Amino acid sequence: MTAVQDSPTARGAGANASANFKAASTASAADLADTPPERVAAIVTAVLKGVHEAIKEYDVNYAEFNAAKAWLMEVGEGGEWPLFMDVFVEHAVEEQVASSQKGTKGSILGPYYQPDQVKLGATCKLPRRDDEVGTPLVLEGQVRDIDGTPLAGSEVDIWHADSDGYYSGFAPHVPDGNLRGVVVTDEEGRFAIDTIQPAPYMIPHDGPTGQLIEASGWHPWRPAHLHIQVRAEGHRTVTTQLYFAGGEYLDSDVAEATKPELVLDPQDDGTGVRRSTYDFELERG
Ligand code: DHB
Ligand code: FE
Repeated sequence: MTAVQDSPTARGAGANASANFKAASTASAADLADTPPERVAAIVTAVLKGVHEAIKEYDVNYAEFNAAKAWLMEVGEGGEWPLFMDVFVEHAVEEQVASSQKGTKGSILGPYYQPDQVKLGATCKLPRRDDEVGTPLVLEGQVRDIDGTPLAGSEVDIWHADSDGYYSGFAPHVPDGNLRGVVVTDEEGRFAIDTIQPAPYMIPHDGPTGQLIEASGWHPWRPAHLHIQVRAEGHRTVTTQLYFAGGEYLDSDVAEATKPELVLDPQDDGTGVRRSTYDFELERG
């Protein structure tokens, strides 16, 4: 395991996730003006109603109200809102949006996507440190339209944690671009990505999100996963994650982002390399 002093703090990872979100997204609170006032009012009223009902049901007192206020302020000051939103809320939005999407099941994007990573050929090795530790893993497959047509030249954008559970760009000891790449499929829409098995990921636990998880008696873990976004011209992008059969926390993901259709079962090919096949299907749009 990586030495403790190398661990990213919640503040570091959180602030980084905030900066990442601001850089990648043009979203701003001013966008609320694009939503009709009746809809804003209806949604906010529903959220507040849930809060008011919880206060009544659990007979919440002033000490608890003030602790909640202080906690909300600390989440903002620590830059942890992207972490919190992606762990506790994004899965519900993803499921809602995915309910109208055919093809490969999606999952949450999470806070650690970085655009514009190195482009790689269809059969490739993901960039990694010379001394990268981890069980070799090969993910191969094909990108197709839902009608079965292979999608040549589509992009399989992949990023994942290392064998200690850290993401490049969000942990100071991991070089930029490590275990990230945009794989371009061949003329048959195929790809074969050589990488290493990621470890389960622990939500940074030394900040307010971690305090909440601990105070609730929950655990801060996500099962090991590969993040993948598949893009093909004229098709609806699929953002998803792939998990590993038998992996720890598969049935208790803190971010509730697993789906049975997204579980790989890699097999050792006899040389110590674990191999798995996964095909992606995209609908037109
Ligand atoms: C978080 C981290 C992830 O790697 C992920 O996939 C989802 C959420 C988080 O820390 O919020
Ligand atoms: Fe992740």
